[in-house]
Order: sequence, then C-alpha cells, then structure tokens
Amino acid sequence: MRLDIITIFPTMFDSPFSYSIIKRAKEKGLIEINFINPRDYATNKHKSVDDYSYGGGAGMVMMIEPIARCIEKLQKERTYDEIIYLCPDGRLMDQQTANLLSMKMNLILLCGHYKGIDERIREHYITTEISIGNYVLSGGELAAAVLTDSIVRLLPGVLSDETSALSDSFQNNLLSPPVYTRPREFKGLKVPEVLLSGNEKEIQEWRLQKAIERTKERRPGLIDN
Ligand code: ADE
Repeated sequence: MRLDIITIFPTMFDSPFSYSIIKRAKEKGLIEINFINPRDYATNKHKSVDDYSYGGGAGMVMMIEPIARCIEKLQKERTYDEIIYLCPDGRLMDQQTANLLSMKMNLILLCGHYKGIDERIREHYITTEISIGNYVLSGGELAAAVLTDSIVRLLPGVLSDETSALSDSFQNNLLSPPVYTRPREFKGLKVPEVLLSGNEKEIQEWRLQKAIERTKERRPGLIDN
C-alpha cells in the first residue's frame, strides 16, 4: 500500500510513524508513506497557503490552489483509490472503514488547518471525508496518524501473529475480553481460574462470554447493530 499525506506539518508524523507496527511495516516494504507539502506548491510570493474567508468571519481558510496542485501532481503519477480529507464533519471512523481501506493500493490523506479548506477542494477532488471523533482537533495530522495506524496494522504480514488483528475489539462488533499475564496472583488479586485450566474450549467460551458482557455494558449500540 502507498499513502501520500498532504500536510503543511510533515514532521508531526516523525514520531508516530517511527515505532512499533508502522515502523515494522515500513521496514518490510508493506507500506510506503510519502509527504507532500502544499507550501512547496504555493504560487504567491510569500508561499502562503491560507487566506481570509470570503464573506468575513474569524479564521483563515486553506487556499484551493496549492492543495489542487499537490493532488493533481500525485494523480499524474498514479491512480488513487480514495482521496480522503480528515475533518470533524466527515463520516465517523470505525473498524469497518479501517478494514475496507486496508484493502486499497493507493490513498491520499489530506490534512486541513485553520477554519478548514476551500469548499471547492471538497467538492471536486475529495472522494471520502472522515472524522476520528466528535471533537475538534487543531489540524488533520493527528487524525491522519490515527487513521494510518488503524489501517496499517491490518495489512497482511504486518502483525507477527496473523490472527491477532482479527481478535481486536470491534471486529465482529464485540469489544475484546479482559486479558491477564504473570504473576497468577498479585496482592491477593487472582487471575480467573479458567485461563489457567489449559482447557481451550472452556477458555474460548469464557472469552466470548466476557466479550459479550463487556460490550452490553459499555457499548450496547454495537450489539444492536
Ligand atoms: N480535523 C479536526 N478535527 C478532526 C477530527 N475530529 N477528525 C478528523 N480530522 C479533524
């Protein structure tokens, strides 16, 4: 998979993309991530990428031209499955969307700033708008990093235990059951006996039961779906 991230702050991704699963996926060549900075495509003297909002009002708006030039340059080089704009008023991100996006070849992620981007970009270039939650971030970069993480861990060969992404919370609309590790007892707090029994069938049944209980208690909406 190839991800092209359009951002005026590419170094914001240095840390989240340098550890653990994303790092390994890059090293194995399972994902290629590139950055393209609208500032490098600004045509005006000051290389500005934002301007006042027509009609007035507080806050700057990201200009159409630098972003359009980034997208058009990328589109000349390859075909994209989706051009995604991260924004608070997009469709809410969920596991199903991560699953679907993990099957794509080429994606563009566009990170907005200030009061947003010129609406004409959204209308004419963007194919999908995604929000990572009902709250407003200062820009799309953190959202793009979250989206990338949720997708990359699903790519075949990224996780060492191939089945572990399938047992994540939200796969099958269930939250994950509780997990424990050594020691068996800590200050009188014991690990549930069944997990120590070695009885695979009973352990699976217990885990499913706990997953259902936890989902009913914390996210009943998932079960209704
Ligand atoms: N940009 C600002 N807030 C956002 C959010 N909640 N999700 C995605 N992109 C955003």
